[in-house]
Amino acid sequence: MCGIVGYIGDKDTKEILLRGLEKLEYRGYDSAGIAVLNDEGVHVFKEKGRIAALREIVDPASEGSIGIGHTRWATHGVPNRVNAHPHQSSTSRFTLVHNGVIENYEQLKREFLSGHEFISETDTEVIVQMIEKFTEEGLSVEEAFRKALQQLKGSYAIALLDKQDQDTIYVAKNKSPLLVGVGEDCNVVASDAMAMLQVTDQFLELMDKEMVIVTKESTTIKDLDGNVIARQPYTAEIDASDIEKGTYPHYMLKEIDEQPFVIRKIIQNYQDESGKLKLDESIRKAMKEADRLYIVASGTSYHAGLIGKQFIEKMAKIPVEVHIGSEFAYNMPLLSENPLFIFISQSGETADSRAVLVQIKKLGYKALTITNVPGSTLSREADFTLPLYAGPEIAVASTKAYTAQLAVLAILAVDVAQSKGITLEFNPLKELAIVANAMETMCDSKEEMTKIADEYLSAHRNSFFLGRGVDFYVCLEGALKLKEISYIQAEGFAGGELKHGPIALIETDTPVVALATQENVNLSIRGNVKEVVARGANPCIISMKGLEAEGDRFVIPAVHELLAPLVSVVPLQLISYYAALHRGCDVDKPRNLAKSVTVE
Ligand code: G6P
Repeated sequence: MCGIVGYIGDKDTKEILLRGLEKLEYRGYDSAGIAVLNDEGVHVFKEKGRIAALREIVDPASEGSIGIGHTRWATHGVPNRVNAHPHQSSTSRFTLVHNGVIENYEQLKREFLSGHEFISETDTEVIVQMIEKFTEEGLSVEEAFRKALQQLKGSYAIALLDKQDQDTIYVAKNKSPLLVGVGEDCNVVASDAMAMLQVTDQFLELMDKEMVIVTKESTTIKDLDGNVIARQPYTAEIDASDIEKGTYPHYMLKEIDEQPFVIRKIIQNYQDESGKLKLDESIRKAMKEADRLYIVASGTSYHAGLIGKQFIEKMAKIPVEVHIGSEFAYNMPLLSENPLFIFISQSGETADSRAVLVQIKKLGYKALTITNVPGSTLSREADFTLPLYAGPEIAVASTKAYTAQLAVLAILAVDVAQSKGITLEFNPLKELAIVANAMETMCDSKEEMTKIADEYLSAHRNSFFLGRGVDFYVCLEGALKLKEISYIQAEGFAGGELKHGPIALIETDTPVVALATQENVNLSIRGNVKEVVARGANPCIISMKGLEAEGDRFVIPAVHELLAPLVSVVPLQLISYYAALHRGCDVDKPRNLAKSVTVE
């Protein structure tokens, strides 16, 4: 969701900005723009749609050694060229890009800018106009920037250019992610390190309500009172080749195929030399001291949380509640006496979860974040972090991060169980190794998955996913995958709930995908399938070896029942992928969606 880049140095600024924006494409956006400053003035190029479209309108002659760029995911105002960033002040002295939502922008308009003509429908324009107004009233640019920031309520990551100063980019952040990169003879600004790995791997973390004055030679961090803050850069440990597609047609397919490797990497990273589980003692202690765990997450990560609850309750015997971040934030449930919060987030930047983290920290509770991005906001602000080791996930539809979340949750559950003295007939590292092999078999079954996608889904408007127990939670994830990327309406239901409403929607040929990987509900889910078949549905049963029955469409290799979701989700990911592909959809960048949802 919205991405920012900035560059100051001697290389080809517009090319670095455009390449940086391309690396941020995965976050989701619907328009983009750049501004390059030189002796002739500021050159702003904006376009609706993809970066490729923006590239076409950028004047190759617009050289400059300072510039900013932006991908916009529309919140205030439709996605069009006018609402795209950068935005400029009335005299064009200031040019600004912004990520986030300014909640009080209407009030600021009334208070500071009455009578002012606004060109766009965005909340952003108010910031750049205020800065100009404050400089006209006699403040220096830095003072005006700071004064404007002090008025803002909401979330922002901002980069600002001043036409009269080709040496400085002004940067600020609150709640929205932003980094400043330190290069050789240049410095950069980026929403995420991936965008600027082309220039440097040295980055400065920024905290909320900090601003930075970025020149070619220096980066000065200040708080909003103007006090200088010293901070050392860290090395972004991302392999540049991890963020390339290689020979794959789509990131999603590459990331599905990486799952066995990711599981093996997790096994490696979570065991010590003697092959025992390795978890920070402080995490163990916090888990054991808690009388109840509250898992908070969104989207796919929420679905992982639902299965994590099963792992933890069944093995570690600690009660768990699973909450959607955006719901919890505005409707906090009654908390137990000694809760521990577990945030699950691929990106570690999801604003809905962050809002909860801020609230519970204020209440003095402890938090553990399970994330793929250890330096992310949710990781930094929690007390503990468990990394996923999944490598960058670029496709909007999450795949390898989900299975990595499940693996780490299983390890956490077993580790805590063992440290509580609970004896388990379950060696998670051994069982996960079996899972990795089974996933490999699934990834080798692409031809079959293509056929299933066509046979059941590609030509349909709607579909159902049925399961019981953990299969139900995997069905929720399977349905989410399908709707996200193929735009086929897909709903996951608990088998037993069918008769309480959804069965009314079953018609001749309605596709119903059912999972059967759990012995205790195998017969009942098959009973549910018979009910829909009697009403004309076209059933596609995916079962696990050992539980299969005649007529099953696909049988996944046998793994430990508890870990079946890590394998049964793979065919659902693949059939979603092929259904989307066959329908001509943009698999990696589905319409309206953002990878990293950084506004509430
Ligand atoms: C967005 C993405 C989903 C993701 C969700 C939560 O909606 O499109 O794929 O599951 O955010 O993201 P997180 O980074 O917190 O896991």
